[in-house]
Amino acid sequence: MSKNNNSWKLRATAGSAAVLLAMSLSLTACDMSGASGENPGSSGSVLSAADDMTVSDKLKEDEANGLFVIANKLNEIDPDYEPEDLTEMTYYVEDRDPTTRYMRAEAVEAFNRMHEAAEKEDIDFRMTTAYRSHAFQNILWTQNVKARGEEEANKTSARPEQSEHRTGLATDISCEDVNWQVTSKFKDTDAGKWVAKHAHEYGFIIRYPDGREDSTGYTYESWHLRYVGVTVATEIWERDLTLEEFLEETGLGSKADGSEIVFE
Ligand code: DAL
Ligand code: ZN
Repeated sequence: MSKNNNSWKLRATAGSAAVLLAMSLSLTACDMSGASGENPGSSGSVLSAADDMTVSDKLKEDEANGLFVIANKLNEIDPDYEPEDLTEMTYYVEDRDPTTRYMRAEAVEAFNRMHEAAEKEDIDFRMTTAYRSHAFQNILWTQNVKARGEEEANKTSARPEQSEHRTGLATDISCEDVNWQVTSKFKDTDAGKWVAKHAHEYGFIIRYPDGREDSTGYTYESWHLRYVGVTVATEIWERDLTLEEFLEETGLGSKADGSEIVFE
Protein backbone atom coordinates (compact mmCIF):
# COMPACT_ATOMS: atom_id res chain seq x y z
CA MET A 1 0.00 0.00 0.00
CA SER A 2 1.52 3.32 -0.91
CA LYS A 3 1.64 6.09 1.61
CA ASN A 4 -1.25 8.55 1.43
CA ASN A 5 -3.26 6.16 -0.70
CA ASN A 6 -6.14 6.89 1.67
CA SER A 7 -7.95 3.76 0.62
CA TRP A 8 -9.52 3.37 4.03
CA LYS A 9 -9.86 6.44 6.12
CA LEU A 10 -11.36 6.25 9.52
CA ARG A 11 -13.70 9.17 9.53
CA ALA A 12 -15.63 10.14 12.61
CA THR A 13 -18.32 12.71 12.07
CA ALA A 14 -18.37 13.52 15.76
CA GLY A 15 -15.70 13.15 18.38
CA SER A 16 -16.88 10.06 20.14
CA ALA A 17 -15.70 6.48 20.08
CA ALA A 18 -19.31 5.35 19.99
CA VAL A 19 -19.84 7.16 16.71
CA LEU A 20 -16.67 5.75 15.23
CA LEU A 21 -17.32 2.23 16.31
CA ALA A 22 -20.90 2.34 15.13
CA MET A 23 -19.75 3.29 11.66
CA SER A 24 -19.87 0.41 9.26
CA LEU A 25 -16.24 0.05 8.35
CA SER A 26 -16.68 -2.61 5.76
CA LEU A 27 -13.08 -3.63 5.18
CA THR A 28 -12.19 -6.82 6.95
CA ALA A 29 -8.84 -7.39 8.56
CA CYS A 30 -8.14 -9.87 5.77
CA ASP A 31 -8.65 -7.10 3.19
CA MET A 32 -6.34 -4.86 5.16
CA SER A 33 -3.63 -7.43 5.36
CA GLY A 34 -3.79 -8.09 1.65
CA ALA A 35 -3.61 -4.39 0.87
CA SER A 36 -0.47 -3.97 2.89
CA GLY A 37 1.80 -5.30 0.19
CA GLU A 38 5.00 -3.97 1.72
CA ASN A 39 4.62 -6.04 4.85
CA PRO A 40 7.24 -8.79 4.76
CA GLY A 41 6.03 -10.34 7.99
CA SER A 42 2.29 -10.29 7.53
CA SER A 43 1.96 -13.91 8.59
CA GLY A 44 2.85 -12.73 12.07
CA SER A 45 0.61 -9.70 12.11
CA VAL A 46 -2.36 -9.33 14.37
CA LEU A 47 -4.57 -8.71 11.37
CA SER A 48 -3.75 -11.86 9.50
CA ALA A 49 -4.26 -13.84 12.68
CA ALA A 50 -7.95 -12.99 12.65
CA ASP A 51 -9.13 -12.84 9.08
CA ASP A 52 -12.78 -12.35 9.84
CA MET A 53 -12.30 -9.55 12.33
CA THR A 54 -13.53 -6.20 11.04
CA VAL A 55 -11.53 -3.03 11.48
CA SER A 56 -14.22 -1.79 13.82
CA ASP A 57 -13.95 -4.93 15.97
CA LYS A 58 -10.18 -4.63 16.02
CA LEU A 59 -10.37 -1.01 17.15
CA LYS A 60 -12.74 -1.97 19.95
CA GLU A 61 -10.37 -4.71 21.05
CA ASP A 62 -7.30 -2.44 20.92
CA GLU A 63 -9.16 0.27 22.84
CA ALA A 64 -10.21 -2.25 25.50
CA ASN A 65 -6.57 -3.40 25.76
CA GLY A 66 -5.54 0.16 26.56
CA LEU A 67 -3.45 0.67 23.42
CA PHE A 68 -4.74 4.21 22.92
CA VAL A 69 -3.70 5.61 26.28
CA ILE A 70 -2.10 9.01 25.89
CA ALA A 71 0.50 10.88 27.90
CA ASN A 72 1.58 14.34 26.79
CA LYS A 73 1.94 17.90 28.04
CA LEU A 74 -1.83 18.24 28.47
CA ASN A 75 -2.62 14.73 29.67
CA GLU A 76 -0.65 13.65 32.70
CA ILE A 77 -0.07 10.34 34.45
CA ASP A 78 -0.38 9.85 38.17
CA PRO A 79 3.02 9.22 39.85
CA ASP A 80 1.77 5.85 41.15
CA TYR A 81 0.51 4.59 37.80
CA GLU A 82 1.95 1.28 36.63
CA PRO A 83 1.05 -0.30 33.32
CA GLU A 84 -0.33 -3.82 33.30
CA ASP A 85 1.52 -6.90 32.05
CA LEU A 86 4.98 -5.36 31.80
CA THR A 87 7.17 -7.95 30.11
CA GLU A 88 10.92 -8.09 29.66
CA MET A 89 12.15 -7.29 26.17
CA THR A 90 14.37 -9.57 24.14
CA TYR A 91 16.38 -7.21 21.96
CA TYR A 92 18.03 -4.54 24.08
CA VAL A 93 21.24 -2.54 24.38
CA GLU A 94 22.98 -4.21 27.29
CA ASP A 95 24.57 -1.27 29.07
CA ARG A 96 21.29 0.57 29.76
CA ASP A 97 19.27 0.52 32.95
CA PRO A 98 17.62 -2.93 33.23
CA THR A 99 14.56 -1.49 34.96
CA THR A 100 13.64 0.17 31.65
CA ARG A 101 13.84 -3.09 29.68
CA TYR A 102 10.08 -3.66 29.74
CA MET A 103 7.01 -2.97 27.65
CA ARG A 104 3.44 -4.22 27.83
CA ALA A 105 3.23 -7.85 26.66
CA GLU A 106 1.57 -7.19 23.31
CA ALA A 107 4.12 -4.50 22.47
CA VAL A 108 7.01 -6.83 23.30
CA GLU A 109 5.63 -9.54 20.99
CA ALA A 110 5.19 -6.99 18.21
CA PHE A 111 8.69 -5.59 18.77
CA ASN A 112 10.13 -9.10 18.52
CA ARG A 113 8.29 -9.75 15.24
CA MET A 114 9.51 -6.42 13.88
CA HIS A 115 13.09 -7.08 14.96
CA GLU A 116 13.08 -10.56 13.45
CA ALA A 117 11.69 -9.27 10.14
CA ALA A 118 14.39 -6.58 10.02
CA GLU A 119 17.09 -9.14 10.80
CA LYS A 120 16.13 -11.05 7.68
CA GLU A 121 17.17 -7.93 5.76
CA ASP A 122 20.42 -7.62 7.77
CA ILE A 123 19.05 -4.73 9.78
CA ASP A 124 19.66 -4.65 13.51
CA PHE A 125 18.21 -2.22 16.01
CA ARG A 126 17.62 -2.64 19.71
CA MET A 127 15.75 -0.88 22.44
CA THR A 128 17.65 1.45 24.74
CA THR A 129 15.00 2.42 27.28
CA ALA A 130 11.31 1.54 27.09
CA TYR A 131 9.19 1.60 30.27
CA ARG A 132 10.33 4.27 32.71
CA SER A 133 8.99 4.70 36.22
CA HIS A 134 8.09 8.18 37.50
CA ALA A 135 11.33 8.15 39.54
CA PHE A 136 13.49 7.16 36.57
CA GLN A 137 11.93 9.75 34.25
CA ASN A 138 12.38 12.34 36.98
CA ILE A 139 16.12 11.66 37.03
CA LEU A 140 16.35 12.06 33.25
CA TRP A 141 14.24 15.20 33.26
CA THR A 142 16.27 16.78 36.08
CA GLN A 143 19.55 15.99 34.30
CA ASN A 144 18.26 17.46 31.04
CA VAL A 145 17.02 20.65 32.70
CA LYS A 146 20.37 21.08 34.41
CA ALA A 147 22.21 20.64 31.12
CA ARG A 148 19.98 22.68 28.81
CA GLY A 149 17.49 24.71 30.84
CA GLU A 150 13.80 23.90 31.26
CA GLU A 151 12.45 25.31 27.99
CA GLU A 152 15.08 23.73 25.75
CA ALA A 153 14.99 20.41 27.64
CA ASN A 154 11.23 20.15 27.31
CA LYS A 155 11.47 20.07 23.51
CA THR A 156 12.74 16.48 23.66
CA SER A 157 12.46 15.46 27.29
CA ALA A 158 9.23 15.04 29.21
CA ARG A 159 8.42 15.87 32.78
CA PRO A 160 7.89 12.59 34.67
CA GLU A 161 4.11 12.92 34.78
CA GLN A 162 3.99 13.72 31.06
CA SER A 163 6.22 11.03 29.59
CA GLU A 164 4.79 8.40 27.31
CA HIS A 165 7.55 6.05 28.50
CA ARG A 166 5.44 5.68 31.66
CA THR A 167 2.74 3.82 29.69
CA GLY A 168 4.80 0.73 28.80
CA LEU A 169 3.86 1.36 25.17
CA ALA A 170 6.88 3.43 24.12
CA THR A 171 10.51 2.63 23.48
CA ASP A 172 13.62 4.35 22.24
CA ILE A 173 15.79 2.42 19.82
CA SER A 174 19.26 2.65 18.34
CA CYS A 175 21.75 0.75 16.20
CA GLU A 176 25.46 0.02 15.90
CA ASP A 177 26.03 2.63 13.16
CA VAL A 178 25.47 5.34 15.78
CA ASN A 179 27.21 3.39 18.57
CA TRP A 180 23.88 2.49 20.15
CA GLN A 181 23.31 6.10 21.16
CA VAL A 182 19.94 7.84 21.17
CA THR A 183 20.59 10.44 18.53
CA SER A 184 18.97 12.32 15.66
CA LYS A 185 21.57 10.64 13.41
CA PHE A 186 19.53 7.43 13.77
CA LYS A 187 17.16 8.60 11.02
CA ASP A 188 19.96 8.41 8.42
CA THR A 189 21.03 4.85 9.27
CA ASP A 190 19.74 1.78 7.45
CA ALA A 191 17.94 0.78 10.63
CA GLY A 192 16.35 4.21 11.00
CA LYS A 193 15.16 4.15 7.40
CA TRP A 194 13.81 0.60 7.76
CA VAL A 195 11.87 1.50 10.88
CA ALA A 196 10.40 4.64 9.30
CA LYS A 197 9.13 2.51 6.42
CA HIS A 198 8.01 -0.65 8.21
CA ALA A 199 7.27 -0.01 11.90
CA HIS A 200 3.54 0.48 11.25
CA GLU A 201 3.31 -3.06 9.87
CA TYR A 202 4.03 -4.25 13.40
CA GLY A 203 1.86 -1.70 15.18
CA PHE A 204 4.43 1.00 15.96
CA ILE A 205 4.47 4.67 14.97
CA ILE A 206 7.21 7.28 15.07
CA ARG A 207 5.48 9.18 17.81
CA TYR A 208 7.11 12.58 17.33
CA PRO A 209 7.32 13.19 13.58
CA ASP A 210 9.41 15.89 11.95
CA GLY A 211 7.78 19.32 12.06
CA ARG A 212 4.76 18.27 14.14
CA GLU A 213 5.71 19.70 17.52
CA ASP A 214 2.65 21.96 17.34
CA SER A 215 0.57 18.81 17.73
CA THR A 216 2.76 16.47 19.81
CA GLY A 217 4.59 19.01 21.98
CA TYR A 218 8.01 17.57 21.08
CA THR A 219 10.50 17.96 18.25
CA TYR A 220 11.35 15.13 15.84
CA GLU A 221 12.48 11.90 17.50
CA SER A 222 13.26 9.28 14.86
CA TRP A 223 14.21 6.88 17.66
CA HIS A 224 11.03 6.98 19.77
CA LEU A 225 8.45 4.36 18.85
CA ARG A 226 4.97 4.02 20.27
CA TYR A 227 2.86 0.87 20.04
CA VAL A 228 -0.78 1.42 19.04
CA GLY A 229 -1.52 -1.84 17.19
CA VAL A 230 -1.36 -2.49 13.45
CA THR A 231 -4.77 -1.05 12.60
CA VAL A 232 -4.16 2.42 13.98
CA ALA A 233 -0.43 2.50 13.20
CA THR A 234 -1.21 1.86 9.54
CA GLU A 235 -3.84 4.60 9.45
CA ILE A 236 -1.50 7.07 11.13
CA TRP A 237 1.39 6.16 8.80
CA GLU A 238 -0.76 6.31 5.65
CA ARG A 239 -2.10 9.73 6.46
CA ASP A 240 0.93 11.28 8.19
CA LEU A 241 -1.09 11.94 11.32
CA THR A 242 0.09 12.44 14.86
CA LEU A 243 -1.43 10.29 17.58
CA GLU A 244 -3.10 13.42 18.95
CA GLU A 245 -4.74 14.14 15.59
CA PHE A 246 -5.94 10.57 15.22
CA LEU A 247 -7.44 10.40 18.71
CA GLU A 248 -9.12 13.79 18.37
CA GLU A 249 -10.63 12.80 15.04
CA THR A 250 -11.94 9.45 16.20
CA GLY A 251 -12.77 10.07 19.85
CA LEU A 252 -10.78 6.95 20.75
CA GLY A 253 -8.34 6.77 23.65
CA SER A 254 -8.16 8.14 27.16
CA LYS A 255 -5.73 9.31 29.78
CA ALA A 256 -4.02 6.59 31.80
CA ASP A 257 -6.63 6.95 34.58
CA GLY A 258 -9.42 6.40 32.05
CA SER A 259 -10.58 10.01 31.97
CA GLU A 260 -11.21 12.03 28.83
CA ILE A 261 -8.32 13.36 26.76
CA VAL A 262 -7.72 17.12 26.67
CA PHE A 263 -6.63 18.44 23.26
CA GLU A 264 -5.96 22.13 23.96
N1 DAL B 1 11.49 12.02 24.76
C1 DAL B 1 10.12 11.90 25.22
C2 DAL B 1 9.32 13.11 24.87
C3 DAL B 1 10.09 11.62 26.71
O1 DAL B 1 10.97 12.10 27.41
O2 DAL B 1 9.15 10.99 27.15
ZN1 ZN C 1 11.52 8.16 23.97
